[in-house]
Amino acid sequence: MEGFSPPGERAGCKSSGVGCKDANGGTGGKQDEGMARFRLSLNGNVFDLEAAADTPLLWILRDTLGLTGTKYGCGMGLCGACTVHLDGRAVRSCQTPLGTVGNKKVTTIEGLSKDRSHAVQRAWIAEQVPQCGYCQSGQIMQAAALLAANPHPTRAQIDGAMSGNICRCATYQRIRRAIERAAGGPA
Ligand code: FES
Ligand code: FES
Repeated sequence: MEGFSPPGERAGCKSSGVGCKDANGGTGGKQDEGMARFRLSLNGNVFDLEAAADTPLLWILRDTLGLTGTKYGCGMGLCGACTVHLDGRAVRSCQTPLGTVGNKKVTTIEGLSKDRSHAVQRAWIAEQVPQCGYCQSGQIMQAAALLAANPHPTRAQIDGAMSGNICRCATYQRIRRAIERAAGGPA
């Protein structure tokens, strides 16, 4: 599957006049040809947006809304750096067109907890998982979705669930330990 271009190179978002405002006010963008209106439920807030329906959710999060905790890695669904939750399920936001989100609740790393108190975040800190950090938002979101669906995964289940999240710094051992810690110990 052909990947999306990096943010800023693709028509859409800031460069082509995507506008956004939260539901309480602000100014919307102009209505361009091919643009449509969307209401996005994100991290407990509601945002009204104008964008092309095929705009990747990742571009909306980073370029339009300034939520840069979610990272761009490959743009092809291959690395997991852009992982967010849709109704609690881990998805690759680079491969999620805005027009397919609908009423689903979007959660990014910024919305996982207000104060890093989510069990996965606490475990990540305790195990000092990150090295460069670039992949870690995606890793945490993937792990949080795993534990929400399966609170006591086996090591094989952890490895299977996390296998699509690439870490160039090879922090995989610490990631696994942190997930086991968040789960209350190895299954
Ligand atoms: S940037 Fe989305 S999977 Fe790599
Ligand atoms: S911590 Fe550097 S890529 Fe994962």
